[in-house]
Amino acid sequence: MQILGFTSADFQFRCFILGIAIVSCFTQVSSAANETDKSALLAFKAGITEDPLGVLSSWNNTIDLCQWYGVTCSRRHRNRVTALNLYSLKLSGPISPHIGNLSFLRELRLYNNSFGHEIPPQIGQLRRLRILILGNNSLTGEIPRNTSRCLNLHHLVLAGNQLGGEVPPEIGSLVKLRYLHLRRNNLTGGVPSSIGNLSSLEQLYLSNNNLGGSLPWVLGRLTNLTSLAFGENTLSARWINPYVDS
Ligand SMILES: *[C@@H]1O[C@H](CO)[C@@H](O)[C@H](O)[C@H]1NC(C)=O
Ligand SMILES: *[C@@H]1O[C@H](CO)[C@@H](O)[C@H](O)[C@H]1NC(C)=O
Ligand SMILES: *[C@@H]1O[C@H](CO)[C@@H](O)[C@H](O)[C@H]1NC(C)=O
Ligand SMILES: *[C@@H]1O[C@H](CO)[C@@H](O)[C@H](O)[C@H]1NC(C)=O
Ligand SMILES: *[C@@H]1O[C@H](CO)[C@@H](O)[C@H](O)[C@H]1NC(C)=O
Ligand SMILES: *[C@@H]1O[C@H](CO)[C@@H](O)[C@H](O)[C@H]1NC(C)=O
Ligand SMILES: *[C@@H]1O[C@H](CO)[C@@H](O)[C@H](O)[C@H]1NC(C)=O
Ligand SMILES: *[C@@H]1O[C@H](CO)[C@@H](O)[C@H](O)[C@H]1NC(C)=O
Ligand SMILES: *[C@@H]1O[C@H](CO)[C@@H](O)[C@H](O)[C@H]1NC(C)=O
Repeated sequence: MQILGFTSADFQFRCFILGIAIVSCFTQVSSAANETDKSALLAFKAGITEDPLGVLSSWNNTIDLCQWYGVTCSRRHRNRVTALNLYSLKLSGPISPHIGNLSFLRELRLYNNSFGHEIPPQIGQLRRLRILILGNNSLTGEIPRNTSRCLNLHHLVLAGNQLGGEVPPEIGSLVKLRYLHLRRNNLTGGVPSSIGNLSSLEQLYLSNNNLGGSLPWVLGRLTNLTSLAFGENTLSARWINPYVDS
């Protein structure tokens, strides 16, 4: 039988070849790893000025991204990074703004190194971030207001840096926050009353800063608060309660 000059067998063969082409095209698309996280990590590495223990030498193209030192990948999404753990490694340099491209990141632990410069506000793009621990570094500038956009944060540890400026009042939107450690910095201004919105808060450490004013009475709402540190601040010891004061 002939259909428009093709034999039926010919037609079936062409359909078969076309089918293979379509299927292989789709499997290539679905298995093509998204390179965004890899380029973000390579940009992070490029910013590092000192790596005396050589840990970032494993961040090279001959081994898989998910085998790089300190990198944990998603089990479901190929080449997407869910955790970056680079603590106590004597690393120096800035934290690259490209970190904000790691959109699957849930945990970022860079504590006890010598990271300097400012915390990139691109941190605020990490909507899945739960743990942010940058303590014991040499970070300067202010706490980026955009950190308040990481609505899943439950650990925010920035203690032991040289952060200045005020505690951003926007921090009050981080309602899942359980640990807020900002002690041993150079923070100024008052304690924002929005902290009284952090109903999950268990530890609030603000000591060894230049904070002034009074403790907002709304902290009394934080029923889960178990540790509170204000020492070495010039905070007044009494709680300001507008109903009592008026
Ligand atoms: C990779 O993922 C990002 C979001 O994380 C997306 O914007 C980008 O389009 C993706 N790239 C490819 C090639 O799929
Ligand atoms: C890449 O990293 C692996 C694992 O650390 C290491 O053995 C290898 O020498 C590195 N390759 C290059 C070119 O640095
Ligand atoms: C901090 O890192 C240094 C290595 O730079 C290590 O010797 C020390 O034990 C670490 N301290 C903590 C508290 O993790
Ligand atoms: C990653 O982030 C940087 C800085 O925020 C940006 O300039 C760049 O376009 C981003 N790259 C990708 C591949 O998304
Ligand atoms: C910071 O957040 C604002 C919105 O609050 C947004 O417009 C801006 O792009 C964010 N900056 C960065 C660097 O992500
Ligand atoms: C920072 O250093 C102090 C003093 O060594 C230590 O008690 C604390 O656990 C460290 N914190 C972090 C987040 O590294
Ligand atoms: C701390 O802040 C005060 C007042 O803003 C400033 O004079 C001082 O230089 C800062 N110290 C450090 C170590 O950044
Ligand atoms: C948090 O608390 C402040 C003052 O206590 C209040 O004005 C604000 O609406 C609350 N909500 C958020 C998301 O900060
Ligand atoms: C307070 O702590 C209790 C016991 O751990 C927990 O069940 C509850 O959900 C916490 N409340 C908030 C607002 O996180």
